[in-house]
Amino acid sequence: MFALPPSPLSAVHLPIFVEKRLQVWMKRDDLLHPEISGNKWRKMKYNLIEARQQGFTRLITFGGAYSNHLYATAAAGKVFGFQTLGIVRGDELHSESSKTLAFCAACGMELHFVSRTAYRDKPQVLTAIQQENPVWQEAYFVPEGGSNALAIKGVMELTAEIYTELQPDFICTAVGTGGTLAGLWAGAAAPTQVLGFLALKGALGLQDEVAKLLQNTGIQPQASMALRPDFCGKGYGKYDQELIDFIHFFEQNNPAIRLEQVYTGKMMQGIASLAAQDFFPEQSTIVAIHTGGLQGRVHLVNCE
Ligand SMILES: Cc1ncc(COP(=O)(O)O)c(C=O)c1O
Repeated sequence: MFALPPSPLSAVHLPIFVEKRLQVWMKRDDLLHPEISGNKWRKMKYNLIEARQQGFTRLITFGGAYSNHLYATAAAGKVFGFQTLGIVRGDELHSESSKTLAFCAACGMELHFVSRTAYRDKPQVLTAIQQENPVWQEAYFVPEGGSNALAIKGVMELTAEIYTELQPDFICTAVGTGGTLAGLWAGAAAPTQVLGFLALKGALGLQDEVAKLLQNTGIQPQASMALRPDFCGKGYGKYDQELIDFIHFFEQNNPAIRLEQVYTGKMMQGIASLAAQDFFPEQSTIVAIHTGGLQGRVHLVNCE
């Protein structure tokens, strides 16, 4: 069932897409690896190669108790033979506080819990931990969310894969730290438009973040890009009955595709809403990226 890149493109079926004469596809990066799935695979690939080439045997990163990135880094450490340290937001937490953290610990990730205040100053937290544990001074650092220039290089391969199969009018992704969006934007060519559906509030900050990430690569995007802050609901990780009902409906219409409530569910809900508002011209071809994250899927009432 799981596949190495190129990941498949699956047709997405919803009545609104038929009504509005839209061709919608899902780029199934969720099928890339059971644990290092979706955008995590793309973002990690060149970072792991770089870490290995520089002779590192340890990886350090940051994340919250439900972080898909922490989860994937722990799995990558286990699969590719790196020791991993996860610096976790919240000193009230422990390794059993969430399924994500329990998985990370089971993969062998060393978890270091820091207060939410201290977490804001990551360089300082990192230095303090490295001074206390000198073994971690020789480690490859992956930023929170895994978004850096090498991550963008990996995500650009995803865009290239899409273009070998079709020329979409729109490429859509969920947005957290902005790395996936930056990579898709860097890899897209006009007339494709790239749409980023925010999973958290704060579009202005993200615009800057994406620009900064791209600056580090020296790439000037050729396509147009827009952030959609209007489908994040009440904010990061928060979901309501309408979203649950939408995911339920989506999965009934697309039994081979699972969504989750933090990223891909909100993105697909956003695409369906925009379709209903006639945002997409008739006959548009839209590719939505399945960025994975299914480990964080909650048991959705009425949805299983
Ligand atoms: C499943 C999933 N989709 C989308 C995103 C957003 O990716 P990015 O942080 O590159 O914006 C993330 C992580 O942040 C994620 O875990």
